[in-house]
Amino acid sequence: MIVTIDGPAGAGKSSISRQVAEQLGFEFLDTGAMYRAVAWAVLRQNRELTDASAVAEVAQRLRIDLSGGKVLVDGEDATAEIRTPEVTQATRYAASNVEVRAHLVELQQQFGREKNLVTEGRDQGTVVFPHAECKIYLTASPEERARRRVADLAARGVPAEFDDILAQQNRRDEEDSSREVGPLRKADDAVELCTDGMTPDEVIQRLIEIVEARKASL
Ligand code: DC
Repeated sequence: MIVTIDGPAGAGKSSISRQVAEQLGFEFLDTGAMYRAVAWAVLRQNRELTDASAVAEVAQRLRIDLSGGKVLVDGEDATAEIRTPEVTQATRYAASNVEVRAHLVELQQQFGREKNLVTEGRDQGTVVFPHAECKIYLTASPEERARRRVADLAARGVPAEFDDILAQQNRRDEEDSSREVGPLRKADDAVELCTDGMTPDEVIQRLIEIVEARKASL
């Protein structure tokens, strides 16, 4: 069974999806981490972010290992560094690159073969797993998402201003939705859940209910 969880940045998808997977006993795939890993490697290798063929070449040669809750890129632990504002901003060059997307989509589909999987991103229910048994679209208002992002960064020791984060987030929302390949879009058959005013635990429980109901109807 494949469960896709898509939605905009800062809707709390990553940590929530991971815990939903854990509680269901399913594997978990954080596809945003894959795009971030590509951007991190491009910066690391001193290649030009604006050179689309260089970015695609880096992506195709990269070994990304997401097992055990860590992000290993060519064997190096990049778990924390892929979340820095610098890498977050650079990630749009990976996410808008047609060849990078084709490559990562294929890796994601391979990962999901014959598995019970919770996969989280922007295009999981629309492009990567259009036949997924259960699709969720997780949202929250821009202000709530920015507040959560600031708290998230603070917890990792990265200071951030609310207004800056909100402005960056609005720009990423716009880029995410207007991208020609794999844009952020709710799949027609996805269940939409707005998480404003809900605690993470409430969201997790609601998502598990949705998955269990879907499972029972299969
Ligand atoms: O979910 P996140 O913030 O870790 O995602 C990082 C970036 O990668 C974000 O700009 C959107 C992009 N992304 C994407 O284009 N497709 C995905 N399936 C997941 C993330």
